[in-house]
Amino acid sequence: MCRQKVKMGLFGSSLSSSLIAVILVLSLAVVCHGGKTSTFVRKVEKTIDMPLNSDVFKVPPGYNAPQQVHITQGDHVGEAMIISWVTVDEPGSSKVVFWSENSKEKRHAKGKVSTYKYYNYKSGFIHHTTIRNLKFNTKYYYVVGIGHTTRQFWFVTPPEVGPDVPYTFGLIGDLGQSYDSNRTLTHYELNPQKGKTVLFVGDLSYADNYPNHDNNRWDSWGRFAERSVAYQPWIWTAGNHEIDYEPSIGETKPFKPYSHRYHVPFKASNSTEPFWYSIKRASAYIIVLSSYSAYGKYTPQYKWLEEELPKVNRTETPWLIVLMHSPWYNSYNYHFLEGETMRVMYEAWFVKYKVDVVFAGHVHAYERSERVSNIAYNVVNGICTPIKDQSAPVYITIGDGGNLEGLATNMTEPQPPYSAYREASFGHAIFDIKNRTHAYYSWHRNQDGYAVEADTMWFFNRYNHPVDDSTSTQS
Ligand SMILES: [Fe+2]
Repeated sequence: MCRQKVKMGLFGSSLSSSLIAVILVLSLAVVCHGGKTSTFVRKVEKTIDMPLNSDVFKVPPGYNAPQQVHITQGDHVGEAMIISWVTVDEPGSSKVVFWSENSKEKRHAKGKVSTYKYYNYKSGFIHHTTIRNLKFNTKYYYVVGIGHTTRQFWFVTPPEVGPDVPYTFGLIGDLGQSYDSNRTLTHYELNPQKGKTVLFVGDLSYADNYPNHDNNRWDSWGRFAERSVAYQPWIWTAGNHEIDYEPSIGETKPFKPYSHRYHVPFKASNSTEPFWYSIKRASAYIIVLSSYSAYGKYTPQYKWLEEELPKVNRTETPWLIVLMHSPWYNSYNYHFLEGETMRVMYEAWFVKYKVDVVFAGHVHAYERSERVSNIAYNVVNGICTPIKDQSAPVYITIGDGGNLEGLATNMTEPQPPYSAYREASFGHAIFDIKNRTHAYYSWHRNQDGYAVEADTMWFFNRYNHPVDDSTSTQS
């Protein structure tokens, strides 16, 4: 927009119109920073957790009934699913019975059960069972709780991996279990664009905000999220609220509750830890990174990512998406520079391998960047300003799920040129891949109707269609 107005000024014919144009340009230079800070004013009310007796936390009836049922992709390409649940009365069976919509043949798979202790809390019996050899693009029913109280759910497998396969991802981060969290989840469920898989960018239950990290809040979160995650996979990223490191009560093993409860298919991508891994799904290649595991040179995560990025075949999966928790580009006055050290380590790779988009959370608000990079700095040259870069990803902060810590409302001013849109509201987003060149992205705030799009962008694929897709130059 700014550039177009500048051109109009320069082509003015008379002296007076040129003078007006110069004044116009000068005034625009003061107010135009390339991006937009939304003027939407959210109704301010305190963000509080729903009480444990809320209906969304209800324990399913029946002896040893499975609860907190959740699924995630179980292999690298989408032909397997990890089914997880908790039983509380006794271990019961880790068997899953499953069948496809068009088949009467019932198959079964067996998994494993485990428990953990955290300070004075003892977990229920946590089951994880991987079901394999699923057909693509097929609806499956599955039953858990064999032996006592059974519960039945369903999911749809993704289409076979390929470059023009449309697929719709939802984006949720920093969800928690407040009344606002419930609104976010409802808005996602009722969004007419119908997300098929959630890319979750970390910070699930916020149990660690309770005295002694009351792990009952991990259980209530599991029951709350079940209504979505039992029916479609959520792809997990570890956030800082998953660390649960608390030496004052003797809890010194990071990620203990999270890694017992949420399994991911990390071995399928040759990762050695569940905190960084990759999957393919339809036309997308999704890389999950851990902001809270070592990522410096020589570390396992660094070596894995160094080997992983060249493996991505963009003729097969054109859309390269990275998930992490702590954002690299963030113009809010919260968590300032927390993502900076990882950016220094990996940003040049993201530019080299033309990552399409990076989704992060952590900051409890919404922000979308221009395509920028900041990789020229070498300590002595002083070149340390982000510049527009068509090989760089768009960075989206979507930590606006609605947890009890409330909104991040304080922004740095003026809005930096790399920031395309920012708004302090709770919500979720949809990344809707159309084909190998185009994806439609929309962000939805909780205060609006389910179909309303508060921020949108057509993504042009960086490998197949690397044309400038900035919303500020298109308008
Ligand atoms: Fe966080």
